[in-house]
Amino acid sequence: MVAAPRIKLLIADDMDELRSNVRRMLNNQENIKIVGEARNGKETIEKVKELQPHIVLMDINMPELDGLKAAEMITKDYPNVQTVIMSIQSEQEYFRRAMKAGAKDFLVKPFSTNDLVETIQNVFNSWIKDRPELLHEDQKAEIISFFATKGGVGRTTLAVNLAVNLASRNKQVLLVDSSLQFGDVAITLNQPIKRSISNLVEAEEITIGEIEKNLVRHESGLDLLLAPKEPALAEAVKVDHLIKIIDQARHSYHYIIFDLPPSITEKELAILDKSDLVLLVATLEISSLKNTKLCLKTFNDINFDMGKIKLILNKEIPNVGIGKADLEAGLAIPVYATVPMESEIAQRSLNHGEAFVAKAPGSAIAKSIIGMADRIVGPKEGVSNETGKSAILKIKDLLFGS
Ligand SMILES: Nc1ncnc2c1ncn2[C@@H]1O[C@H](COP(=O)(O)OP(=O)(O)OP(=O)(O)O)[C@@H](O)[C@H]1O
Ligand SMILES: [Mg+2]
Repeated sequence: MVAAPRIKLLIADDMDELRSNVRRMLNNQENIKIVGEARNGKETIEKVKELQPHIVLMDINMPELDGLKAAEMITKDYPNVQTVIMSIQSEQEYFRRAMKAGAKDFLVKPFSTNDLVETIQNVFNSWIKDRPELLHEDQKAEIISFFATKGGVGRTTLAVNLAVNLASRNKQVLLVDSSLQFGDVAITLNQPIKRSISNLVEAEEITIGEIEKNLVRHESGLDLLLAPKEPALAEAVKVDHLIKIIDQARHSYHYIIFDLPPSITEKELAILDKSDLVLLVATLEISSLKNTKLCLKTFNDINFDMGKIKLILNKEIPNVGIGKADLEAGLAIPVYATVPMESEIAQRSLNHGEAFVAKAPGSAIAKSIIGMADRIVGPKEGVSNETGKSAILKIKDLLFGS
């Protein structure tokens, strides 16, 4: 069965109360997603361009540019965006002017939840009726997992910063802290754990509506599904829950990023299996190299799709006896991206609960992650078979057992 896409709705009204009332009325409507809000006509046009909603629910009287003018511009420039005008005036004249501006329907304030839902649904249905091909155009998020079989190599740092940067590009991004026992995403972004994945798994069924109720929204626009408050609660999260979360959320996001714990159990494998890109994080320490090698071997042994694994060299630092070329030679896969060691920025941003891609975008560490994000949003690349120079003796001994 092909499901109709969720209706993306933009609310445009200068009254805060009206916008929050509409949010409340649509709270339980799983097929309608509020993608944004605007406070005047000018902002509405900007948000339409940026968010490409299906429907704009727009007040007739707004500052800067009124609702009728904005509706006219949207109809002309964004023919796939439908407008519904709201007004406290119910006279025919207003209705006529709204229709002339290209609006598809008219709601007289105050309106009931039923009227609101029905109007949105009808406008959407009559638009999509002539576009059956769009019923197949189901958004499917790219699933990106940060993984390592050794702790402390920087998975959380990289996952958080990549996610914040992607969100700042107006992408819909969900970051899932699947380090279920000792997840650090909340503390890294200075978010109190008001809701977490353990609240979500208490729901009778995991639906997109339930997921949304249990998310925490970061100031960058990034959605966070946090790890449980305490390690004891992690047990309640089962493999099936994780699979359901991915299957449900992937229709609402451009990217879903997982911060995984340093272990390979059924839970991690389920997430890795569903991932499109596995970013395997290694550092220039012999123990990281050993564990990464073992990890690759394990994946190979279990016939994991090796093509989706990309090696990330984090905390790169010169003159420590192992270099990037040694890593590539030893592991026999090329380094996809290198992130330099920049301890001061990394620690400061961690202690302040701020992503460095936002607070110190000019730093080398931030630039390397922004570059990684550029590649992720850019055209898809093939897998390269390049390997680097030969490894130093100690690593050769360790890795190849000579
Ligand atoms: N490129 C870097 N340069 C300097 N310090 C870094 C870098 N990346 C991460 N760090 C620091 O390394 C430490 C561990 O990072 P992080 O918590 O992201 O690792 P992790 O793999 O998620 O660890 P855990 O196993 O605890 O989940 C932190 O103090 C972080 O600030
Ligand atoms: Mg971590």
